[in-house]
Amino acid sequence: MELQYRGKHILAPMVRVGTFPFRMLAAEYGADITYAEEIVNHRLLRCTRKINKMLGTVDLVEKSTDTFVVQTCDEEKSCGVFQIRTSDESFSISGGIGAAFLSKPDLILDIEKTGVAAVAVNGRKVADSPRDPAQWDGIAEVVSALSIPVISNGDVFEYSDYQCIKDASGRFLL
Ligand SMILES: Cc1cc2nc3c(=O)[nH]c(=O)nc-3n(C[C@H](O)[C@H](O)[C@H](O)COP(=O)(O)O)c2cc1C
Repeated sequence: MELQYRGKHILAPMVRVGTFPFRMLAAEYGADITYAEEIVNHRLLRCTRKINKMLGTVDLVEKSTDTFVVQTCDEEKSCGVFQIRTSDESFSISGGIGAAFLSKPDLILDIEKTGVAAVAVNGRKVADSPRDPAQWDGIAEVVSALSIPVISNGDVFEYSDYQCIKDASGRFLL
């Protein structure tokens, strides 16, 4: 199923935060799309799929430790996104992806041409610390260069921030 990103409220991927109960809660509070916490590909390979009748979920459980790696349910079929990590950050940057895009901003136009459904942009540069304010108006430049949905991201803590980032960056929110 292809997700529609325009005008949606999106829960960002967050390790150790975006667990199944948290995603359900976010959906209850109005999130249209919920990203699960990032999962490392090697860990997924060590999992077995189990139907959890008590909770009504499908669980991917690590065979050796019996711990949950991913939990999901039917309701998430239309709104859940699972992020699988296949490399570490330094590998991504040296491979020319991730934050490396910042040194070649025109690459975003090539990414759009590949047919991706949307791109997410965080309003910070590599040297910025989390305490530096996200530059939402910088995201506006990406929005104006593309015709696919741009998911604006950074410094969104409360519902009122949603409207502010939407106004400042043009359209969408993560
Ligand atoms: C606790 C925590 C865990 C995160 N885990 C992930 C992750 O697994 N994958 C990812 O792409 N981004 C992750 N992020 C980044 C968020 O998805 C999001 O882009 C970021 O928090 C945006 O806001 P900020 O720049 O103000 O922090 C995480 C952020 C936090 C605070």
